[in-house]
Amino acid sequence: MVQQSVKTTIFAPSILAADFARIAEQIASVQAAGAQWLHLDVMDGRFVPNITWGPKIIHDLRKLSPLIFDAHLMIVEPERYVDDFRTAGCDRITFHLEATVHAQRLLVYLRSNGVKAGLAINPQTPVAMLQDVIEDCDTVLVMSVNPGFSGQAFIEHAIEKVREARALIDERNPDCLIEVDGGIGESNARTLIDAGADALVMGHSLFGHDDPGEQLRRIRSLIA
Ligand code: DX5
Ligand code: ZN
Repeated sequence: MVQQSVKTTIFAPSILAADFARIAEQIASVQAAGAQWLHLDVMDGRFVPNITWGPKIIHDLRKLSPLIFDAHLMIVEPERYVDDFRTAGCDRITFHLEATVHAQRLLVYLRSNGVKAGLAINPQTPVAMLQDVIEDCDTVLVMSVNPGFSGQAFIEHAIEKVREARALIDERNPDCLIEVDGGIGESNARTLIDAGADALVMGHSLFGHDDPGEQLRRIRSLIA
């Protein structure tokens, strides 16, 4: 549709796959190539079988870049830690519907504290589960892999879920953004945009290469 084709796609490199010994250089590289968000995957070893970083690291990274910091919390009981991530410099905080009992309360809390509030759903969670909270979301994050690791294969059913989320959001909260995360690269980026995605997270497809910025430019030109 015309409205979708003129929308600017948001590219959100996930530094989960980056080389942290060269993190300043790697962030600068994707920033120079036109990334708008920096996707920060927070894992607790409980919600997902992997552990990454907490607010201290994000606070330090904040000094390196003016990009929008897009935190993806893969932690149980995210309500216990959102203030720490907010004060560390996260502009957007997305947590998992499966990780908290009171998702609606937390969405409202985030918004009332000046943070863009996002809700993520795992591959087995239907889009219909978002029906009663969609007005409270600034972002819906559709997982296209099971969260926990970079470099996994894209789950094709996510495309249909993006279409479903698009229909729900167009009807009920058109300002809400649809973000897709996992296994995204040159082979599926265009399809996801056409299905209605606003923001594409990319880890391995960028940082799996020596020059992630060059890779981002290449993918952007391929899907233009
Ligand atoms: C997975 C993370 C993703 C991950 C994506 O749990 O949420 O953000 O970094 O990495 P790729 O793009 O390599 O699948
Ligand atoms: Zn993520």
